[in-house]
Amino acid sequence: MNHLIAPSILAADFANLQRDVEMLNASEADYIHVDIMDGIFVPNISFGLPVCEAIYKHAKKPLDVHLMIEKPENYIQAFHDAGAATISVHYEATNHLHRVLQQIRDFGLRAGVAINPHTNVQLLEDVITDIDLVCMMSVNPGFGGQKFIEQTYTKVRRLKEIIVDAEASTLIEIDGGVNIDNAPKLLEAGADVLVAGSFVFKSDSPIDTIKELKNVGS
Ligand code: DX5
Ligand code: ZN
Repeated sequence: MNHLIAPSILAADFANLQRDVEMLNASEADYIHVDIMDGIFVPNISFGLPVCEAIYKHAKKPLDVHLMIEKPENYIQAFHDAGAATISVHYEATNHLHRVLQQIRDFGLRAGVAINPHTNVQLLEDVITDIDLVCMMSVNPGFGGQKFIEQTYTKVRRLKEIIVDAEASTLIEIDGGVNIDNAPKLLEAGADVLVAGSFVFKSDSPIDTIKELKNVGS
């Protein structure tokens, strides 16, 4: 499978959100990654439903919503209504992961599970066929612009094995500190989707940087 690119809107200029969404529309991005932080699950607050709706209003690419919030089960309907195509909930943020995955799929959306750097991929083994996408955190969630954690490569390989053994079609998404240096190694290890915030938006030409990431390995 050709890999997919999901630029993270967290690194966009919020005073020019429409402009930045239109740039993503014109780019080779496959999804728009939307980071929702509640200040409780993670020590930072990003933005919430009205901003997600505003992004959706202008977006021509599907929204990949990453919920860094406690009790995500209470907000699935709301983020569905706000335009999410994929919703990822954190493994560490709910007591009933299986139930919330069903809830997401019942809305016709793709169900994702995000895991913190300390969370062992083995913990997903029993629900892997219920997961459309694993958002593997390669930094501690809460902030853009952090340094990539090298242990991620090993985790990707281990998770890939679990997916292949289960004959599941789960995609592996890498989130945090992704750039042009680690992208080839991540894809080689088995990653399918690369999220990139700072590397895209802080570059001189975000649209060219997205193209560069998309062309890795071809
Ligand atoms: C971190 C977020 C990431 C972040 C990635 O909590 O989940 O999606 O936006 O940003 P960079 O690519 O700058 O690490
Ligand atoms: Zn994210």
